[in-house]
Amino acid sequence: HLGGIQVAPPDAILGLTDAFKADKNPDKMNLSVGVYKDASGQTPILRCVKAAERHLVETEATKGYLPIDGGPDYRDHVRTLVFGSEIDSTRVCVAQTPGGTGGLRQAAAFLADQMGPTRVWIPSPTWANHKAIFASEELPIEEYRYLADDKKSLDAAGMLEDLRTRSKPGDAVLLHACCHNPTGVDPTLSQWKEIASVVSEKRLLPLIDFAYQGFGTGLEEDAKSIAEILSQVDEAFVCSSFSKNFGLYSERVGALSIVSADAKTSVSVQSQMKRLIRCNYSNPPRHGAAVVAAILDDADLTTMWHDELNQMRTRIKDLRERFVTTMKSTGAGHDFSFLLDQNGMFSFSGLNPMQVDELRNEHSIYIVGSGRINVAGMSENKMEQLCGAVAKVIEG
Ligand code: LMR
Repeated sequence: HLGGIQVAPPDAILGLTDAFKADKNPDKMNLSVGVYKDASGQTPILRCVKAAERHLVETEATKGYLPIDGGPDYRDHVRTLVFGSEIDSTRVCVAQTPGGTGGLRQAAAFLADQMGPTRVWIPSPTWANHKAIFASEELPIEEYRYLADDKKSLDAAGMLEDLRTRSKPGDAVLLHACCHNPTGVDPTLSQWKEIASVVSEKRLLPLIDFAYQGFGTGLEEDAKSIAEILSQVDEAFVCSSFSKNFGLYSERVGALSIVSADAKTSVSVQSQMKRLIRCNYSNPPRHGAAVVAAILDDADLTTMWHDELNQMRTRIKDLRERFVTTMKSTGAGHDFSFLLDQNGMFSFSGLNPMQVDELRNEHSIYIVGSGRINVAGMSENKMEQLCGAVAKVIEG
């Protein structure tokens, strides 16, 4: 009977947007979900996307089904974006998925179905949805140390020690390729080398979440972590999202790429991946991926995309700086300059759950319970208001 069903708790991230929408305070601020907003507070449609959509309206001839794993042109573009043009493409099979989350869920399904009850190591902390995704496929989950006790830096020694001493060959290890969510704290390239060595030494399977390509240092620079891992191991899963870097959030455009040791294995992997997709969502939606492919097929639109992505990245860095200086000017006596070392959309503020609640209840400012702030949602003209409120909750 449905009568006995209990109410589920609200989602740790998207549930806050529901609460935000219901808030009547005209000065409210939503800095929870990872969505970019421009200076006017809008989440814009990129100009390259609009141009590609106009082109599609004129040229698209059918809305017939795509192949189970998506269109070949889109898949080729994903392969090049993520792995560059040097990798042997016969080793990489790509499936278009509904967003990065769809990619992660298909990766989890693949592990559960094809690789036995694979244990998955996730960083502590990690994106609030990771645990639920792996748990939904009944994969055992373990945590490795990631953020140091100072809440500002990477506990590289702890991370490497956990993976070296507690993992077993065949376990999967979830890594954020760049712009770690929720902390914004990333390993350096030399730390990636060490991580790759442990992954190789312990024969772990890298399961890489790549949701923010282009938001760290640049499109190619952000993929260097993946190249480093693949220089030492010959198998990996990579889940990409184009929600943020193309601003295509609601179009749900992503991919799961699986790298195998050889072309023969890749053929089997692709067939199993398709079988698993078929009994989940059958085949992917057309529009968002068609937009991405139309942009990447056209040199001018690709240049426009690079420019727009660079502008978003640069503006987020500028907002970080403004936040740090404005906080300083409040005299709250708490140095936030560590935010300048963090990458991507998010900042891990170090605010505790009580302070987070107070921000929401007293000031209608919504951030995630972990203290994660979406810097990409800040605006220049509300910076004083935001920092004033943060100063108040810090001072207690
Ligand atoms: C986030 O972490 O805010 C984004 O990845 C959006 C989401 O689905 O949670």
